[in-house]
Amino acid sequence: MDSAGPVALSDAQKRTLYHDGFVIVKGAVSESLVDAARARIRSAERGENLSSDKAMTDLVNASGVTPILHEVMGNFDPPSASQVGVLKKRAPGTHYNNLGYRDCDMPYYGSQLHMDGNITITSPQSVQEGTAAEIYRRHFAAGPSGDLGRSPLVMGHNMTPMFQDPEMTLALGSFTAFVFVCLNDQREPGCGQTSLLKGGHHVSERFFRWQMEQNGHLGPEGPGWPRLNHDAPNRCGMNYLPESILNAFIDDSCERTPDGRRWPKPTQALMEPGDACIAMWHIPHDASRNENGTESRKNIIFRVRNKKRQPAHVATGVSDHPDRGWKGDWLEYEPGNNPWERSKFAMCNMWHEWDGMTRIVAEESAQSTQGLIR
Ligand SMILES: [Fe+2]
Repeated sequence: MDSAGPVALSDAQKRTLYHDGFVIVKGAVSESLVDAARARIRSAERGENLSSDKAMTDLVNASGVTPILHEVMGNFDPPSASQVGVLKKRAPGTHYNNLGYRDCDMPYYGSQLHMDGNITITSPQSVQEGTAAEIYRRHFAAGPSGDLGRSPLVMGHNMTPMFQDPEMTLALGSFTAFVFVCLNDQREPGCGQTSLLKGGHHVSERFFRWQMEQNGHLGPEGPGWPRLNHDAPNRCGMNYLPESILNAFIDDSCERTPDGRRWPKPTQALMEPGDACIAMWHIPHDASRNENGTESRKNIIFRVRNKKRQPAHVATGVSDHPDRGWKGDWLEYEPGNNPWERSKFAMCNMWHEWDGMTRIVAEESAQSTQGLIR
């Protein structure tokens, strides 16, 4: 390991992770690893895919991030792939974003708060006509799988299935932890930072439990979460979050789009090279527009899953739907191992896969309960 930095979270950091759903670890990755990754990005051929490049995966596999995650979360497969999150500096655009709003109209540097594991089909760039059913059909037929209707075989442009399971009761892929490794100076807001909805994990978990109680269908198209928003300006926006989660974070200070709708304000992860942000997988988050950066924003993103969810399967470290293959292929599970039920359980019990958080979760949740009783 090449790091003189931290190799475990302090109790104070774990309390931050408990309450906020993410924690920034200063200097988790050494300068030499950061330099190697930056150099590799600089030397990349146009269009070259660096996802599996050792200079990227070493940011977890050879840094302090691995012992930190082992301690706080548990065992996981060393990532063999990553998402190379490079965002060029740009001005707000007039295109419709995935929420169906014009990019330039969205507050908070255009962040589109979402949970990972959700299908995305590229947003239509004209106002859609027809009934809701017609728009839905046309939208999902426009994806890479063609016109399959409503089906677990439908894949998005983001390579995420429309449903995880054959019965279409689980519309979100899931893992355990995000790791965002920062490779450039992002201490000033508006440089393309990863933006997170502080405390959103608690509300998300409560929402999943509620969906579970209703009919066991989790994610979009489950109770309280229509998949598309036909009131969006292009009449075909993704409901990346259900109304009830959004509403929990809306007050008079929130900025509006021109239609008068208010949006939750995310927190930008202000980091510098070598910092790593560790977050709960289902915390609402997004990138943001790099308007003010002096260079492209460079975050290398890993999706890590506690090995105990599916010990017999290897997760690559990039997929947001590891219960299926990358291209949506069906994996084999031994008799008695229902991957969809395991994932639903993890979604409704978010600390189950954070083995090193048990004491802190007990202490902090007891305090919160006392606060309510008082
Ligand atoms: Fe995401």
